[in-house]
Amino acid sequence: MTNSSISDEFYPAGGLNTASYDLRADLDRKIFEDPIPFYSRLAESLAHENGVLELGCGTGRISAAIARLGIAVEGLDLSPAMLDQARANYPDLTWHLGNMCDFDLGRQFDLVIIPFRGLQEVTDATDQRRALERAFAHLKPGGAIALDLMDPDLRYCLPEGDPDPLELPVFPMPDGVGKPGSRLRITAMERTNDPLTQKFSEHWRFEEINDLDEVIKREDCWHHLRWVHRSEMRLMLELSGFVSITEFSDFQGNPPKYASNQVWMAKRPD
Ligand SMILES: C[S@@+](CC[C@H](N)C(=O)[O-])C[C@H]1O[C@@H](n2cnc3c(N)ncnc32)[C@H](O)[C@@H]1O
Repeated sequence: MTNSSISDEFYPAGGLNTASYDLRADLDRKIFEDPIPFYSRLAESLAHENGVLELGCGTGRISAAIARLGIAVEGLDLSPAMLDQARANYPDLTWHLGNMCDFDLGRQFDLVIIPFRGLQEVTDATDQRRALERAFAHLKPGGAIALDLMDPDLRYCLPEGDPDPLELPVFPMPDGVGKPGSRLRITAMERTNDPLTQKFSEHWRFEEINDLDEVIKREDCWHHLRWVHRSEMRLMLELSGFVSITEFSDFQGNPPKYASNQVWMAKRPD
């Protein structure tokens, strides 16, 4: 096995990351907080008339949970590969290929959500603001936005980055992927930071391993993100026209807390 080069595309078509995204997201919701009940409850209480729009919907797991409650939901994502998975998993839902910073669906919803740090994958501050403005434009007067971000732990945002790799528990291969009996090892490798622009990049390694623990396929890619400070996030929401801006540190409604999550809710004025 020769070492592969690192790709700048985090969700490539036919790649191990895209194929295993749901496994990783499932592990995340077992170890950390599960976002699905929070977004489902919000949709249930706010979105019976005009439905929900999920920006950065990925493979569709959150939209699908909302649809199971009988609420109309549509998803939009920039990655054709992630949307292919969404379409294959949930063919009855409406999926749009598009950029959350620049799209127009020509209709308005009761609730727009950007779950699981989707806004952080927009790595330019002006574009993050444009995404919020597009969300605003797609809300009915009185409609709500909800999103979650990682609150930056400043120890990990320094120019020297973080060289220490972190290996996730080994996964079974997703159905239909890889050689029979092989398993998937995922390692978060080094992280680089640019404190000037608040951009950071995580090097992820995806390896198919056989029963002798030999690597038979390896894919390396960068995940580019941008950290957002809580005062900055509040200002971006205000400048985008939102009111009644509330922040929590988790999906239970606890108060803001440094280096935890930022869970935001806000309204388009009536
Ligand atoms: C961490 S995933 C979250 C997926 C889904 N919301 C979930 O909770 O499983 C972030 C998603 O945002 C998408 N994304 C990144 N930048 C985007 C953009 N500018 N416009 C639309 N989607 C974007 C990625 O393709 C990816 O599917």
